Parts: sequence; structure tokens; C-alpha cells
Amino acid sequence: MAGRDLPSGMQIAPSLLSANFGCLAEEIRTVEVGGARILHLDVMDGHFVPNITFGPPLVRSIRQATDLFLDTHLMISHPLGFLEPFVRSGADLLTLHAEALGCEDGGGPSEAGIGRFNEAAASLRAMGCGIGLSFRPATHPNGWLQRVGEQLDLVLMMTVEPGFGGQAFMGAMLPRIQVASQLAKERGWGYQVEVDGGVSVETARACFNAGARILVAGSAVFDCEDRIAALGNLRKAACGRACVTNGGLGA
Ligand code: DX5
Ligand code: ZN
Repeated sequence: MAGRDLPSGMQIAPSLLSANFGCLAEEIRTVEVGGARILHLDVMDGHFVPNITFGPPLVRSIRQATDLFLDTHLMISHPLGFLEPFVRSGADLLTLHAEALGCEDGGGPSEAGIGRFNEAAASLRAMGCGIGLSFRPATHPNGWLQRVGEQLDLVLMMTVEPGFGGQAFMGAMLPRIQVASQLAKERGWGYQVEVDGGVSVETARACFNAGARILVAGSAVFDCEDRIAALGNLRKAACGRACVTNGGLGA
């Protein structure tokens, strides 16, 4: 990645989706104090998913409020036209959905999908922004990873149907987390595996054991009054250590 590097080691990435949008700067400060280094931003267009959140203008305001790494999850049907506005607004990494790029029946990449991915990757690289690829639970990631894994900074595995916070973790997704982590190791690829959906003190350890090193947590952080305790408890649940050390935890 030419711009800012994704923080290394075990990271909890609070998802602002569950925060109070009436006082976002304050909400962000509470997770900074809790030791978060990545902020997960869920962009939804009401078409790719049945919910609407926010776009580049809010990302710009968030950028002005924090130095945290802005991990921006695009749950939108036409991501290519929005790459530059999000990067110009201060996003550090954009994650696109495989399904929005183009999948064949069964979830593998279509040739048009690979073409769109390559176009997005080249454009983000030129702007110094990281690139992630995400998969709905019904989409099999392996065909995509074989084709484009080398170009990725992040693989975001959905462990709920995208669209809403507070849903139950789908344990059936654990094997794909393990396969994606193993593949990066075997091939010497640089991507981190991130898990998104239903992360809690009950599910964090299984994600860590499967090889994920970034755990998105929305309701498990923002539904708690004490954000410092919530983040510490999640880190401890994931890798046995509650406090942040250089570069994160349990790399
Ligand atoms: C859901 C979003 C998630 C969401 C997770 O589509 O991608 O990032 O905020 O929320 P929790 O952690 O509450 O499952
Ligand atoms: Zn997300």
C-alpha cells in the first residue's frame, strides 16, 4: 500500500454503524482512548443491501475528527464510480464486494468481475489507497482469491448477511477464514483477514484461531457504556491479552 499501512497485529476495529451519529466525534474519541487503531466505516446504498448509511461527505468529517486508519466497507452496487470521492474524503482503504464487481452463478469471479477488480485496484493504487475484497456468506471466496489475492491488502469475510449490526455470528464461515489465512501464508501474500458481523467476547477467539487479525465489532463496542472495557474484553477474548502493545497484539 502506498499510503498509510494497515495497523499490524491483532486489531479490534470498531464499526461506527452502532455509534450515536448525533455525537460522532465524541464516540470516536472513546474508542481512541480504548486503544483502537482502525475505524470501520459501513457505507450502504439501499440497493446492494436493504439499508442506507452515509457517503463521502461524512467520511470527510470523520477524517477531520480522527487520525485512526479509516477502513471503509463499501456495500454499494456500483463502487467504481465512487472510489475517488471516498479516497479524496480521507479513506485509507476501500473494501469492495465481489458480488458488486461480478460473480458467476456459484460465486466465482466472472471475467467482467475480474476486469472491474483490476480497474479498481489500479485506480486505488495510483491514489495511494489500500484495497480490500469482501464476500457475502453465500459467495465462495476461493476462486476470487486465487485470481486476485496477490493484489489485496485485506480480505473481509462477512459472518452475517451484510446490512445491519447486531446479528448472530455465522460459525459456518470459520473454515473460509482459515483457508484465506492459510493461502496468504503459503503464497507469501500480504493481505490481512478481517471478520465482520457478530463479533463478541463469545466469538472472537474462534476468529483469531482461524487466522483473522482484524475483528470488526459494532454492537459489542458501542452498545457498552464503557468502551475501554469493551475493547479490552474483546482483545482478551481474542488473543488472551487485553492491552495494546507496539503494533497491536499477538501478530
Ligand atoms: C454489517 C456491517 C458490520 C456491522 C457489524 O453489514 O458490515 O460492520 O457494523 O455489526 P455487529 O458487530 O454489531 O455485528
Ligand atoms: Zn462492515
